[in-house]
Amino acid sequence: MSAFAEKIITWQRTHGRHDLPWQQSKDPYAVWVSEIMLQQTQVSAVIGYYGRFMERFPTIASLAAASQDEVMQYWSGLGYYSRARNLHHAAQTIMREFSGQFPQDFQSIQSLKGIGRSTAAAISVFSFNQRQTILDGNVKRVLARVFGIEGWPGLPLIEKQCWSLAESLLPQLNLPAYIQGLMDFGATLCTRSKPRCLSCPLQNDCQAYQQQRVSKLPSPKPR
Ligand code: ADE
Ligand code: SF4
Repeated sequence: MSAFAEKIITWQRTHGRHDLPWQQSKDPYAVWVSEIMLQQTQVSAVIGYYGRFMERFPTIASLAAASQDEVMQYWSGLGYYSRARNLHHAAQTIMREFSGQFPQDFQSIQSLKGIGRSTAAAISVFSFNQRQTILDGNVKRVLARVFGIEGWPGLPLIEKQCWSLAESLLPQLNLPAYIQGLMDFGATLCTRSKPRCLSCPLQNDCQAYQQQRVSKLPSPKPR
């Protein structure tokens, strides 16, 4: 296993989040709803919405059958409303094209409206224990720092490099702990403006820290 993955998993055991409402279920629908809500919104803001949404729409079928108006009411205040419209639309697609069963095939998951590669990976790891990697803004930042990647990670070439690197770092075992660890590590320790390098288990491996370039990485968007 990469030293990186090993340290992330060990860190997750003691410092990561284990008791969030959506972590109590492997139901792909429950995981999907949580991942969509968490795309542009912080955990603390999501928790209440998630509970109310899942209570009213506990299954794909119940969401698909609801009116768009009612779905929007349950999303009201969370923002980025296209997420709710896509979720509703995709629930109807699953009823129609996948017999109401959330698909397990990685390409099929990505074919659903509103689900890109990283969200598809999170769902397939947490629900189906498949071997896929996520790559969101937090993960790009962590990789850019630890591995000293130059260039704005939004550039297609740099992004491609990040996907390859992220794939090469995947452990053989404990995928869910590793992926949750990556998310929590970027969200709570290796943060954008105040990374807590002094309590970081990757300090000795981290190129940005070793070269005192933490504030320079990831490189900003060129302008
Ligand atoms: N951000 C995106 N997905 C998340 C998850 N499952 N847990 C915490 N933060 C997240
Ligand atoms: Fe992030 Fe600092 Fe840890 Fe490097 S040493 S991974 S910059 S928190």
